[in-house]
Amino acid sequence: MAKFFINGKNRLCGEVELDSAKNALLPILAASIMVDGKVTLEKATAYTDVEAMCDILRALGGVVVRKGDNLEIDCSMLDKCEVSHILASPVRSSIFTLGPLLARLGKAKVAYPGGCDIGLRPIDIHLSSLRQLGCKIVEKNGYIYAEKGKPLTREVFLPFQSVGATENIMMFCSLLPGKSKIYNSAKEPEIVDLANFLNCCGAKIEGSGSDVITITGVENLEGCNYRAISDRIECGTFMIGVAMTGGEAKFANAVSKHNSALIEKLKSCGCLIKEGEDEIFLSAPKRLESFVELETAVYPGFPTDLQPQMVALGSVSKGCSLVIENVFENRFAYVGELLKMGCDIRFKSSICIIRGKDRIFGADVVSTDLRGGASLVLAGLVCEGYTTISRVEFIDRGYFHLEDKLARLGADIKRI
Ligand code: UD1
Repeated sequence: MAKFFINGKNRLCGEVELDSAKNALLPILAASIMVDGKVTLEKATAYTDVEAMCDILRALGGVVVRKGDNLEIDCSMLDKCEVSHILASPVRSSIFTLGPLLARLGKAKVAYPGGCDIGLRPIDIHLSSLRQLGCKIVEKNGYIYAEKGKPLTREVFLPFQSVGATENIMMFCSLLPGKSKIYNSAKEPEIVDLANFLNCCGAKIEGSGSDVITITGVENLEGCNYRAISDRIECGTFMIGVAMTGGEAKFANAVSKHNSALIEKLKSCGCLIKEGEDEIFLSAPKRLESFVELETAVYPGFPTDLQPQMVALGSVSKGCSLVIENVFENRFAYVGELLKMGCDIRFKSSICIIRGKDRIFGADVVSTDLRGGASLVLAGLVCEGYTTISRVEFIDRGYFHLEDKLARLGADIKRI
């Protein structure tokens, strides 16, 4: 098992070229199940979650070939409808295959998804919405058995703006004859990107990025070349890292409006941020002010996927900061590891109070999940002395060679 070894206290300076968004690539790969013809995904970063999704497509009968940065996918001959427990358990996004398989083959047998342990993460909204759209669904022995049927309604109201449920339903409806609507849909940029991809393949989706998405079913989808949006969570993680180290960096191919909630917080901490057309420049003071208070929310609110990194930032800023986690109920597991580094954090259920310290110290810590792991890396970068972070495989799920990109900015970090 690999570890990161960090010798802290270096300033991060330079330029970061962002990878493609993991959370855009995963549903786009699932959507490829429905496409007759070749899909070329340009710059399809080889996150381990993306590779796991490719394995799922292969097991279903799709042909997926990696050619350098690109992925070539051909699911024209896809004929299997089962995603086994072994394939589904490494990635939460395995549930994204449910809608596309139902749309393409009329039936699916998909094991319950795995993924990071950050809460209960039920899939009831995915299932109840598909049921309203006529699917017969039985949950048995850890599997979801589903079959397409006659829709009870063509208008689905989501009780919560779930990203995954919005994507699953949008994909299913793309090949469902007639007009369907999703009310109270999530508005994340990755949902807009999925809709753009599907529309490139011939789908008719309107309103993505708003509360109501309208999908007019088409008979079939055709192949296309597509490049997913850049990863706003990777961008945010690096911005927070640069800010914590008092550094200065330019983020190429960054869409600043995708990170406006973070930018506002970092400005309140004293960072100078310039937003260009497709780049962001950030310059941080030697010591950050407190961000005072932060609550996670659905987009365009503050992303839960940047909450752990901000707790690390609050731990070395001046004064106290308060963090309220509203999206996942169990997303503070990593805090115990930050305490080992000398951070002063108290948390109860979904609230975390942080007293910023001017010095924290290297320690042996363990990643608890993807973004929690990233938060430990950022803390390690500002610790005095050496930090080792084990269970790096969590971090690899959503950052591609994180250590190399940080080293290029001046960090002393190695994979051992
Ligand atoms: C996606 C992202 C993840 C991000 C999250 C919130 C991907 C691959 N992952 O996850 O990185 O942290 O959005 O921005 O895109 N819920 C239910 N029932 C459901 C579905 C969700 O109760 O059927 C709850 C969840 O338990 C959670 C909340 O809704 O508390 C948000 O979940 P959701 O928006 O669905 O997140 P994911 O799609 O899993």
